[in-house]
Amino acid sequence: MTRIHTHPSREDLNQAAAGDVARILAQAQGDRGVASLALAGGSTPEGVYRLLAEPPLSEQVDWKKVEVFWGDERSVPADHPASNFRMAHETLLSKVCPPAEHVHAVRGELPPKTAAERYGEELRDVLGETPRFDLVLLGLGEDGHTASLFPSTPDLDGAGRLVIATESPEPPKDRVSLTLPVLNGARHVLFLVAGRAKRDTLERVWNGEQALPASHVRPRDGRLTWHVDEEASPS
Ligand code: 6PG
Repeated sequence: MTRIHTHPSREDLNQAAAGDVARILAQAQGDRGVASLALAGGSTPEGVYRLLAEPPLSEQVDWKKVEVFWGDERSVPADHPASNFRMAHETLLSKVCPPAEHVHAVRGELPPKTAAERYGEELRDVLGETPRFDLVLLGLGEDGHTASLFPSTPDLDGAGRLVIATESPEPPKDRVSLTLPVLNGARHVLFLVAGRAKRDTLERVWNGEQALPASHVRPRDGRLTWHVDEEASPS
């Protein structure tokens, strides 16, 4: 089941998406006692994370009971300006303070393949051999990538692995990413897409262009929701 929400402004997108995130995490905690979340990187989610970090939304989620992962990471140290961990820590995690043992960051300072192996082991330890996230947040690159699965990535399924090292055409080149089967195993996937620069790509993804990795995100047994602003919306 796919839902598309088109918002008149970026702020409206942020408010609606943040409300969805809080609702989904709270529902998961009600159902199973703990929620599992994979955060998106890049710049689009920042406004959503800032809203989640403040009341009323911060009071709707018990952040002591959220297992926090990332959908992908750049192979840079955690304090690097390009680090997805750093962005999420600054905008959200430093304020809602999940227990350190529930924050599962990619070891960006390690060689990508080593970081991918370790992240995959940690993911298995926490969510099992076939991880099923309650919520995966994703962005969309202008080339149709999502997480760090690029059109040039040889095998989006990762040949059975949960996490792979990939290469981005844009710096930082070396990345670590969840594979497509992990993304598609989620209960909920929320795409956050804003800005005129994404419109053409979004139209190609919605038309199912198979060369674009984002076109392959179709939760096997879950919901796919798009939060887009009017600038990015083709319709
Ligand atoms: C990353 C992200 C990536 C991002 C898109 C969109 O590490 O860069 O995970 O998939 O979501 O590139 O990025 P913007 O939100 O900055 O446009």
